[in-house]
Amino acid sequence: MIFRMRVLGIETSCDETGVAIYDTDEGLVADELYSQAAAHAAFGGVLPELASRDHVRKLAPLTRRALESAGLEPGAIDGVAYTAGPGLVGALMVGAAFAAGLARAWRVPALPVHHMEGHLLAPLLEDPGPDSPRPDFPFVALLVSGGHTMLVEARGLGDYRQLGTTLDDAAGEAFDKTAKLLGLGYPGGAALAKLAEGGDPAAWRFPRPMLGKPGLDFSFSGLKTAVALAIRDAEEHGSLDGAQRADIAASFQAAVVDTLVEKSLRALDAAAIGTLIVAGGVGANARLREALESAAGARGARVCFPRPAYCTDNGAMIAYTGALRLHASGHDGGIVARARWPIESLEPVAPRASRTSRAPQRGEH
Ligand code: KG4
Ligand code: ZN
Repeated sequence: MIFRMRVLGIETSCDETGVAIYDTDEGLVADELYSQAAAHAAFGGVLPELASRDHVRKLAPLTRRALESAGLEPGAIDGVAYTAGPGLVGALMVGAAFAAGLARAWRVPALPVHHMEGHLLAPLLEDPGPDSPRPDFPFVALLVSGGHTMLVEARGLGDYRQLGTTLDDAAGEAFDKTAKLLGLGYPGGAALAKLAEGGDPAAWRFPRPMLGKPGLDFSFSGLKTAVALAIRDAEEHGSLDGAQRADIAASFQAAVVDTLVEKSLRALDAAAIGTLIVAGGVGANARLREALESAAGARGARVCFPRPAYCTDNGAMIAYTGALRLHASGHDGGIVARARWPIESLEPVAPRASRTSRAPQRGEH
């Protein structure tokens, strides 16, 4: 990037409050996160009203901490990015209003960011390793979170085509619902993965939904029903002990992983692209990582994952996406909160080389 910029990013689309600062010269210089998961756990899911109120409580202290940890004054910030959707509309409104207030006070642009664009750009935030260059466009993104399961062809900033999506439950939702059936807490994806470590993935042959059909869509509700029936069966036979639960968890996880891997490979073929990026909370799953790496590697394709902290919701990906967008155009987007917002409706942003615009100046809206 030619002009140095620092963007503060705010994430409040669900139950995580994230505030981070991305510096185009130095990378991420602050990254604060507060998870409300414990507060929602008692309700077995995210309570929207509680989420909004908790974001209100946490945003100002986290912002102060982010500035302090980066050693920056507000005057050093060139833009305030925030998640404008999709997500819980009340929670989004809190972040949008807070961000727009800061932007107005600091006389810099407010930058509405699409939450899923944030997820899919997160792997571009930093080099994956010393010998591994940062991935770049074009790539196929597998976005697997609590609310979404999508395969997206990404050709450039804002240039996204949805190749496939879930017809019912999201992958993370399937993990969470299965975890609940197994008596694990909410959100149960990580706990289920841990339980699965001690289980036999071949103990149960659960359905691999949609694998027999052409196309790139997913469906997980049938799998969840199959697991529910297996648990009921085991309970009726009095055999639902720790080992049985671990076997069910491992077999469920294997079915989801097989499905995600197979569809991802099909998407790479369909788009004729050699790079797969995996993002969203389920991207933290170790079995999924291993399986994708070996399957894609066998075909000569590259798979990139953000580190687990950037797979789940965070402010860093919003700050980073905001910085790319500020660099590209930088106009003030005001307060926007959209519960639903198809990623395909974003407009491609022309590459910097072909633009004549200069970097926006402080106070220019
Ligand atoms: O991206 P994210 O933090 O939030 C949403 O935007 O939804 O994803 C959260 C989802 C939850 O469903 C959680 O259970 C799941 O990601 N998850 C996992 C793992 N860690 C988090 N699922 C499977 N294995 C994991 N290790
Ligand atoms: Zn998310």
